[in-house]
Amino acid sequence: MKCDVLTLFPDILTAYLKESILKRAQENKLLEVKLLNIRDFASGTHRTVDDAPYGGGAGMVFKPEPLFKAIDFLKEDKEPRKIVLLSPQGRPFDQAMAEEFSHETQRFIFICGRYEGIDERIRSIVDEEVSIGDYVITGGELAALIIIDAVTRLVPGALGDERSAEDESFSWGLLDYPHYTRPREFRGMQVPEVLLSGNHRDIKFWRRKEALMKTLNIRPDLIEKVSLTDEDKKILNEIKEEKQ
Ligand code: ADE
Repeated sequence: MKCDVLTLFPDILTAYLKESILKRAQENKLLEVKLLNIRDFASGTHRTVDDAPYGGGAGMVFKPEPLFKAIDFLKEDKEPRKIVLLSPQGRPFDQAMAEEFSHETQRFIFICGRYEGIDERIRSIVDEEVSIGDYVITGGELAALIIIDAVTRLVPGALGDERSAEDESFSWGLLDYPHYTRPREFRGMQVPEVLLSGNHRDIKFWRRKEALMKTLNIRPDLIEKVSLTDEDKKILNEIKEEKQ
């Protein structure tokens, strides 16, 4: 995956990209991220990127020229790419969208908005507007990192252990089951006996049941969306009966 990130604050992204899975993915050429400062595409001695809104009102608006110039520059190599604008008005990002993005061969350009908003004409060059949730954060940088992170995890080879991505909560559409490591007893809390049994069928069943139970309690909306096996349905009935 190749990503160009247009931002006024590239340093926000640098630290995160230098660590852990994303660092390794870049070293292994599975991920390439270029950070471009939008201010470098602004003209005038002050390199202004924002201006007062037509019609009045508080706050500043992102000017169109620097962003259009940056996009023109990036498009010079004629490689196809998807231009993604990060904003709270976008399509909500979730694991399904991460999967969708991970299968797209094209490059991505992420535009990180700031200020009160962007000049509406910028939307004419955007392929997709994406939001990371129904809340407003200071800028699109964290949103871009979240998307790059979630999508990179799905690129084959990006995770050391290939099973990890599939095991993770949302790959099943369910929340994750509980994990334990040594010691067997910690401050009076025991590791569930089944995990010490060595019986892989029992362990798998226990994990699925715990995942279903947790999801039913915390995110019942996800249960509606996930495709359940006959065994899942049996387990769910059991859980519901146990609750009564
Ligand atoms: N910028 C500000 N808030 C955002 C959000 N919720 N998602 C994406 N970008 C944003």
